[in-house]
Order: sequence, then structure tokens, then C-alpha cells
Amino acid sequence: MRTQVAIVGAGPAGLLLSHLLHLQGIESIVLELRSRADIEATIRAGVLEQGSMDILNESGVGERMRREGALHHGFEFAFGGERHRIDLTELTGRAITVYPQHEVIIDLVAARLAAGGDLRFEVSEVALHDIDTSTPSVTFVQGGEAQRIDADFVIGADGFHGVSRPMFPPGTREDFQRVYPFGWFGILVESAPSSDELIYAQHERGFALVSTRSPTVQRLYFQCDPHDKVEHWSDDRIWSELHARLEHNDGWKLKEGKIFQKGIIGMRSFVCAPMRHGRLFLAGDAAHIVPPTGAKGMNLAISDVRILAGALDAFYKQGTEDGLNGYSEAALKRVWRAEYFSWWMTRLLHTFADASPFERRIQRAELENVVASRAMRTALAENYVGAF
Ligand code: DHB
Repeated sequence: MRTQVAIVGAGPAGLLLSHLLHLQGIESIVLELRSRADIEATIRAGVLEQGSMDILNESGVGERMRREGALHHGFEFAFGGERHRIDLTELTGRAITVYPQHEVIIDLVAARLAAGGDLRFEVSEVALHDIDTSTPSVTFVQGGEAQRIDADFVIGADGFHGVSRPMFPPGTREDFQRVYPFGWFGILVESAPSSDELIYAQHERGFALVSTRSPTVQRLYFQCDPHDKVEHWSDDRIWSELHARLEHNDGWKLKEGKIFQKGIIGMRSFVCAPMRHGRLFLAGDAAHIVPPTGAKGMNLAISDVRILAGALDAFYKQGTEDGLNGYSEAALKRVWRAEYFSWWMTRLLHTFADASPFERRIQRAELENVVASRAMRTALAENYVGAF
């Protein structure tokens, strides 16, 4: 079979690109290893910057997000026994929306299918061919049958462990990486939110984060050993750790509830440059990873494909490759700023086991500076809402 753009991966990057291309009259086929039910149920990120919301709204898939997402105008930093509010809207005029990634996926899959889009789930043995030529192709197996798509372009939106990035020939890309010596233990809890806004807590026992997924589900995280096992953490042990890190003397209490999911995520910063080789273009986690602090991952995926959709439109409508040639540089500019911000938030808020007493006091002094200085709060807020 033939299409214009073959997209590997039905995450936010792949699905949104397919949707944006469709609106521009460009055909695509999306391949995904997992089932539709699986991708629509896996709970991942949850925060959308205003710019991400704008893209979803402008492209006609924002209706449920506007109705069900929770608009947040600020968040809190907690440290040293006190909580400090960062007023995003007052500082930047912008806000963020807490709307889970799998809900974005549900909305995009529905939009693609309603428009007759070609999404193929549960495919296997995906392989990319001839990406150095103007006639690349993708082979895969679906329902036991070998298939092949000939395309003008292949988009690798298949995540950090996908098959696309390794297709760059040796010496054609540089990888930048930092792996952090801790992970996040994440839980989902049946209960109303403990707080109207997110709370990022720095504590000597380790970082903790109070977030939410819906009016009846809380999302809570705490810093842990990345090699720890979920089985080592009973519900009681989790609650006592969270209470210890989050509660101070101001009477605020963390709400408990039934824990219905537990998981440990590793933390890394990673960038592959360039994000393009020949007719293969990478988007989202296939090209870059941020640690979760600051919630930039899904937003970067969305901004990559906004640039890519524009570049592909210019290619098909005006016959110019300028946008495609500039894709990597344009995307990486934003990626590196988000890498910086995610690294900075991570460093500011986590407990590093090997930090000297001096470094621990410098970390506290930096936090004090951030909450005391309007200029520093503004820089933080601009990065957080993605005001660039
Ligand atoms: C969430 C994750 C983050 O990394 C963050 O900074 C805020 C919220 C979340 O999953 O809810």
C-alpha cells in the first residue's frame, strides 16, 4: 500500500501529527504495537501547557479537554515546613490544564477514526527501509500477514525504545544523556484532590508531588530508589512516607483513599541531535526524554509535531523543503530549553544522596530565592506554562 506519510507510534505525537496532516489534506497511516484499549488506558503524563491546549482547540479536538480538564492558575512549592504559591496567571497571563495524556489519546483516536483515518493497532516486526532515499518504506506484520507501506516520509514517533532512532546510520547523530540516581514512585488513589493546586515538596527524605487526574482520582509521587520494587511498598508504608514529606504545621492534610495503581519510573534527560535523517523525522520521546519534574514531555511531543505538520504542508503545497530542512533546529531549540527547565526543577527539588552539607544548603538557598524574588518566580512560571 501507499501513503504520503507513514507514522510509527500512536502516542500523542503520532496521533496528533496524523490529525493535523488530515486537516491539511495530507494522507497518513499510523502503526502501533499495542492495542487501542491498552493505549487508551495507560496512565502517563497529565499537564498541558497553554500552547498545547491551543493546538488541540484550534485543530478541533479540545472539546472534552475544555469540559473535563482542570485549569490551574498556580501551584505550590513546599519546603522547610512552609508552602509558597507560584501564581502562574498573575506572573505570565497564562495557565495550565491537568488533563491526562490517555484522555488526549482517546480524543485523537476518536477524531482520526471519525475522519476515516488509517490507524493500525497490534502490529509487530515494524522495520524502516530506504530512509536515505525519496522512496522510504515501512514493513510490518498485522494479523499474521506481512505488509508494506511505501511513503514519501517516515515519522518515528515510537518513543524512547522504538525502532526509528536506531535507524540513523552510525555517526549521523549525537546522543546527550543524563541518568538521575533516583526514580518516582507513582500511585493513583481513589479520593477527591487533597489540594486545589499541585504541590511540589522538597524534603530531606526526598521529593514528593501532589497532583490529580480527576475530581475523584489523585495522582501522588515520591522520590525513590529507581531499583526499588513496588512490592516493597505496602499501602501503610506509602502513606507514612507521603505524610512525612508533605505535611507541615499549617494544618493541611493529605487525603488518603484506596491505592489502585503503583509504579516506579526511572528519570533521565536525553536528546538525540539532529532529529532527522534523510526522509526519517523523529518526534516526541523517540528524540528526547525529560525527567517528569515540570511535566514537559507531552508538551514537547505536541510542539514537535506542530512544527513538522507545518513543514510537511509547505512541502506538499509549495514544493519547498525549507521547513523540513529547518525542522530539527527549530524543534531542538525548544527541546533544549525544556531540557534545561526539567533538569533545573529536578535538581532544585530532589534529595541527592551524594550532596555535601554545603550543596544541601545551597539548594535550600536557591528555593528561598525563587519564592522570594518576583523575577525568579516569573522565570519559573514562564518556563512552566511554556510562554515562549
Ligand atoms: C504530573 C507530573 C509531573 O511531572 C508534574 O510536574 C506535574 C504533574 C502528573 O503526572 O500529574
